[in-house]
Amino acid sequence: MTVFIIDCDPGHDDAVAILFGARHCQLIGITTVYGNSTVANTTRNALSICELAGLDIPVAMGLAEPLSATRISGEMVHGKTGMDGAELPPPRSKPIPQPGVDFLIEQADRHRGELVIVAVAPLSNVATALEREPGMKSWLKAISIMGGSTHIGNVTPSAEFNTFTDPEAAEIVFESGVPIHMVGLNVTTKVGIGRGDIKRLRGEGGKLAREIANALHFYLERQISIYGRTIAPMHDVCAWIPYTHTNLIDYQATRVSVETRGRYTRGMTVCDLRGLVTRETGSMAAAEPANAEVAIDVRGEAIIELVLDTLLEYP
Ligand code: BDR
Ligand code: CA
Repeated sequence: MTVFIIDCDPGHDDAVAILFGARHCQLIGITTVYGNSTVANTTRNALSICELAGLDIPVAMGLAEPLSATRISGEMVHGKTGMDGAELPPPRSKPIPQPGVDFLIEQADRHRGELVIVAVAPLSNVATALEREPGMKSWLKAISIMGGSTHIGNVTPSAEFNTFTDPEAAEIVFESGVPIHMVGLNVTTKVGIGRGDIKRLRGEGGKLAREIANALHFYLERQISIYGRTIAPMHDVCAWIPYTHTNLIDYQATRVSVETRGRYTRGMTVCDLRGLVTRETGSMAAAEPANAEVAIDVRGEAIIELVLDTLLEYP
């Protein structure tokens, strides 16, 4: 049986991803990491969301800093708390005493060949686990990453937030040999919640959906004012789709290299989508073997319908 851990930094879309994964998959744990806010905030948000939703899932607090980069924050998009807009009650529960990285390693060992990490935040926890435990890469079934992009970035013109925040970690993960789905910005920006959807959550939803609607209202207004979008991308939910609704995203087996040095391109996921069929390419750099199934197209509206239906099911 396939089991899942979500490695996340809630974060508006992370919170929705937790709620979606808990309904559609065997979610055995949540690890948190800095990213959209401090790890203290992202952990508190994960605990509060679980309590509000009545989910009894262990939450393990992960790393507070990238491997070697200087930490940046997603405050501009997610606000000071990481989930501004929501009135989340302070959680009564606490994270488990085991650190997030140790939890990932222990669960990968316990569920050898069955554990998928759904990684929707900077990849620091996952990379550290892979580096610390040599068995990890053969124990994991796969990693599904919301991160990177086949072309456009958000933090910089070329880099997406999760890979830009800790490029060294992203490189370790992409080079690990673990089967990877990369669901990047090139598709996730097409999967968004609009004003009408928020109204529906408020009108038809229970307590949880109404609170999420408040959070998403804040997040949508930031997306409008910063990026000029009309929808609030549900980036992180998309990392579940390779396992829950396989026909809603199209993939291409691709070589992905993470740029760690470029002056303008640090954190970029360089995706070889040239479609070369031969290694006889003369002076051209030949294609290296693929290391990821990269998302190249998406049925965004269908995913949003699923997300709304899922949120509306919660009491
Ligand atoms: C990613 O960055 C975060 O702000 C979101 O939660 C998502 O994981 C999108 O670039
Ligand atoms: Ca995230």
